[in-house]
Amino acid sequence: MTRMSQTIRIPDGFVEELKARIRPSDVIGRKVKLVKKGKEWVGLSPFTAEKTPSFYVNDQKRIFKCFSSGMGGDVISFVMETERLSFMEAVEKLAEEAGMSLPKASPEAAEEYDHRKRLQAACEAAAAYFEDRLQSSEGVAARAYLEGRGLLPAAWRRHRLGYSPDDWRKTIEHLKTQGFTMPEILEAGLAKESDKGGEPYDAFRGRLMFPIPDSRGGIIAFGGRGLTPDAKPKYLNSGDTPLFHKSRVLYRYKAAREALGHGEGGGLIVCEGYMDAIALAEAGFGEAVAPLGTALTEEQISLLWRAGPEPVLCFDGDKAGLGAAFRAIDRALPHVEPGRSLYFVLLPDGMDPDDLIRASGPAAMAEALENRLALSELLWRRERDSEPLDTPERQAGLDARLMAAAAQIKHAGVRAAYERDLKARMRDHFWQLRQSNRSKDNRKRPGSGHNPASGESGQSALKSGAPAKLRGLGAIVRAIDSPYLLSLGDETLAASVFPDPDVSQIRDCVLDFVNAGKPIDRGALSAHLLETGNMRASRLLKDYPDTPQIAADGPEAREWLIALEQYMVVRSSDGQEPGSGTDAASGESTASPSAWRRRHQLVAERRALRARMNEAAGKVGES
Ligand code: UTP
Ligand code: MN
Repeated sequence: MTRMSQTIRIPDGFVEELKARIRPSDVIGRKVKLVKKGKEWVGLSPFTAEKTPSFYVNDQKRIFKCFSSGMGGDVISFVMETERLSFMEAVEKLAEEAGMSLPKASPEAAEEYDHRKRLQAACEAAAAYFEDRLQSSEGVAARAYLEGRGLLPAAWRRHRLGYSPDDWRKTIEHLKTQGFTMPEILEAGLAKESDKGGEPYDAFRGRLMFPIPDSRGGIIAFGGRGLTPDAKPKYLNSGDTPLFHKSRVLYRYKAAREALGHGEGGGLIVCEGYMDAIALAEAGFGEAVAPLGTALTEEQISLLWRAGPEPVLCFDGDKAGLGAAFRAIDRALPHVEPGRSLYFVLLPDGMDPDDLIRASGPAAMAEALENRLALSELLWRRERDSEPLDTPERQAGLDARLMAAAAQIKHAGVRAAYERDLKARMRDHFWQLRQSNRSKDNRKRPGSGHNPASGESGQSALKSGAPAKLRGLGAIVRAIDSPYLLSLGDETLAASVFPDPDVSQIRDCVLDFVNAGKPIDRGALSAHLLETGNMRASRLLKDYPDTPQIAADGPEAREWLIALEQYMVVRSSDGQEPGSGTDAASGESTASPSAWRRRHQLVAERRALRARMNEAAGKVGES
C-alpha cells in the first residue's frame, strides 16, 4: 500500500535469492529470543503468550514453525505476520536489509523512487528538528501546553511530538544545512511559496507538531496545532505531496496495527483527531488511529480492514459526530462481508475520547467501546428516525430507504441477511407503533414509539436500545451452557417473545439445533448464526459471559424456568410486565390478532409448564 511499492516489480528469482541470502535466525532473532538446540533454534512464540518454548527456527530449511499457534513459513511470512506488512512491503524491507536493491521497473520509476526517498528524508529531518526544538528554550510554551493536556515527556518521545519555531525561515535554513534543496523542501510540504514572489517561507510556524508516519513508519507529513485558542486554523496539515495523500493515510496506522496484534479478531479504533489518537494510545488503547481532518474514505476503510475485521469508529457525541458516522455507513456498506464490518461508538455529552479519558478514565472509555453499535443497528436507527412514521406512505418510505441501503451491499449473503434483519426490525417497530398509538397514556419506551428526527442528538441514538433490550438473552445462554435446561423448557422457549429480534434469532437457532439432534454448543451456534448472516446475533452469543453450570435437578433449574416464563406473555409496547395487562381470555384491547391467538395457546402451554415444574420439583424433593 505504500506508494513506493507500486513503482517496483519483483523480477523472477529475486525472492528466492533474497531468502537464500538471509539467515532466518538473524531476522527472527531480533523479535524472539532464540536458543540453539541441535540444528534448530528455539524460543517463546511471538504469536501466543506461552510459557514453555515451542517456536522453532530452522536455518537449513529456512523456515520457522510455531507449535502453539500453528503458524509457520519463511522469513518473509514471519515479517508479514509480526509487522503486519504486505508481501511487497516485507520483501522491500528485507531486501533493504540484505543489501539487495530491488530493480526498478523503468528508469523513470527508479528516479521517482529515489525522489520520494529524498522527500521522506526531508520529512524525517524536519521531524527530528521539531523534536529537538520542543526540548529547546523556544519550546517552553509548547512543553507547558502538552503538560497542561496531561502529556509527559515519555509520551512526547513515543509520538515524536515536536515544536516548529515561530519564525519564517528557521526550518528551511535547518533543512538546507542538512543538504536538502529548496525544491525538495517545498515539495515535501515543509515550506510555502510566497504569493508576492518573495522568498519561500516555513509552512509550520509556532505550532505543536505531530509527525505523520506511513504504514512502514517513515515520516511523510505533519499536522501542527496552534498553541493559542485563537490560532487559525487550529490544526494545520501538510497539503497533498508526492508522499502524502491525506485520504489514503491514517494517523498512527503502523503503531496501531502492531498494537492490535495477530489474529484475535477485533479491529482498530478510529477517532477523529491527533490528540484523541494519542490520548487513547496513552490510556492503553494502542490500536487507535485517526483520519486527518476529513471524513473517512473508502481507502481508509480498507486500510482498517487490512488490520482487523471489525474496526470501531468512535465519534464525538455531537451532531457532527453522528453525521460522520452516517457517512461512514454509506462508504462501508457496499464492501461489508462475513467477518468484515464496522462498529460505532457515539460518546456521551459531546465529548471526544481525549475528554472522556481525562474526565472519567480509561475504564469509561472501555465501557463506551463495549457498548458499540453494529453497522446494521445504526443504519436502522438512522432511517427509523429520519422522519415520522405516522402514515402508511411514510412507513413505505422507510421500507424503501432500508431496502435501498441493503441493496448497496455487494456480497449476496450479507445483503440477504440485512434485508431479513431490517424487515424484521420494521415489522416489530410498526407493531409497537400501533400499540402505543392505541394506548391512551402513550407511555414511551426508549427505542420504540415515535421518534421525530428533530431534536434527536447523537447521544440518544446511542443510548436508546442499550443492553436492557437484550432481555431474555441471559436465559437462553444459560440453557446453552447447561443444555439439560432445554429438555425442561424447550416449549417455553419456543413460545417466548423477546424484545430484540437478534435474541429471537438465537433462540430459533438453538431450537433448530435441538430439533436436528445436534449437540448444543455455543461455538457451533454462533458459527451457524454467522454463516446464516446473523452477525450481531452471532457476536451477542459469543460475547456473553460464561454462565455457571446449572445442575440437572437443582432449584436453579426451576428458577430458570420461572424467569423464562415471563417472556411467554406478549408484552405490550410500553414494556408492561407480564400479568399486569389484560387477561388471556378477554385480551381484545391491546393485542394484535396473532397475539390474541397466541395468548389462548399460552393458557394451554402454561398448564403443561406447571405440570412439568411440579414434576421437576418432585424429583428434587421439596424446595
Ligand atoms: P477537533 O476540532 O475535533 O479537535 O479536530 P480535537 O482533535 O479535539 O483537538 P483538540 O483536542 O482541540 O486539540 C479533529 C481533527 O480534525 C482536524 C485535525 O486532524 C484534528 O485532529 N482538524 C481540526 C483540522 O485538520 N483542522 C482544523 O482546523 C481543525
Ligand atoms: Mn479534543
